[in-house]
Amino acid sequence: MTENLAAATHRVDTAPGLFVCFEGGDGAGKSTQVRLLTDALERRGREVVVTRQPGGTPLGAQIRELVLHGDHVAARAEALLFAADKAHHVDQLIKPALRAGSVVITDRYVDSSVTYQGAGRELGRDEITALQHWAVGGLLPDLTIVLDVSPEVGRERRGDVQDRLEAEADAFHAAVRRGYLEIAATDPERYLVLDASQPVERLQAAVIDGVDRVMAARR
Ligand SMILES: Nc1ncnc2c1ncn2[C@@H]1O[C@H](COP(=O)(O)OP(=O)(O)OP(=O)(O)O)[C@@H](O)[C@H]1O
Ligand SMILES: [Mg+2]
Repeated sequence: MTENLAAATHRVDTAPGLFVCFEGGDGAGKSTQVRLLTDALERRGREVVVTRQPGGTPLGAQIRELVLHGDHVAARAEALLFAADKAHHVDQLIKPALRAGSVVITDRYVDSSVTYQGAGRELGRDEITALQHWAVGGLLPDLTIVLDVSPEVGRERRGDVQDRLEAEADAFHAAVRRGYLEIAATDPERYLVLDASQPVERLQAAVIDGVDRVMAARR
C-alpha cells in the first residue's frame, strides 16, 4: 500500500507563486524567522501568505486543538489527523495563494509529521511520508529551511509552558532533530539547514540569502 500511495503522487509546480517552509524542533525560532522573512518580502512588494501546520484553516484549528491539547491520541489517529489538516489546508489555502502568485510561508509542513510521528514514535517514517505526500497531492515547498536546534537550546527557549508534544523527553527531541537532518540530506537543493543557536539577525540574513537563491534560480 505504501508504494501505491507514493506512486500516486508527483511533485506539483508552485509557479507563479513561491512556497517556503520553516521546520525545526520546538523552540527553534521558526515563528520568529517566519515573521522576519514576511516583513522583508512585503517590504519588497511581494504578496505573502503566512500559515501554520496544523491549524491554518478553521478546520485545521480544531484539529490542532484535538491533537496538541486534547487527551491521548492513538499514534495512527494522530497521523491521520495531521494528514487531514494538510489535505484541507493545501486545497483551501496554499494552492489558491500560489496560483495567485503569492509567496506562501508555512510554519511546519510534511516534514514535521514525518519527523514527529515517524522518527520519534512507533510509526514508520516511510508510511508517514507516503501518507503525507498523498494528503498534499505532491505539493512540496520550493525551499524548506530547517532550523537545527539541540534539545537543550529548544527547551531553554520554550520556557516552562509546554503542550503535550513539547513535554516529551529530550530523547524524543533528539530523535526529531536526527529525523530533520536525515530528510534534509536527501535533497540539498530544496533544503537549507541552519544552526538555530545563532543570533536572530544572523539567521535572518541566511534565510533571506537562501530564499533569494531560489528566486534567482526560478528566473
Ligand atoms: N536565534 C535566536 N536566538 C535566541 N532566542 C531566539 C532565537 N530565535 C527565537 N528566539 C526566542 O526563542 C523563543 C522561541 O522562538 P519561536 O517562538 O520563534 O520558536 P518556534 O520554533 O516557533 O517554537 P514552537 O515550535 O514552540 O512554535 C522565543 O522566545 C524567541 O524570542
Ligand atoms: Mg512557533
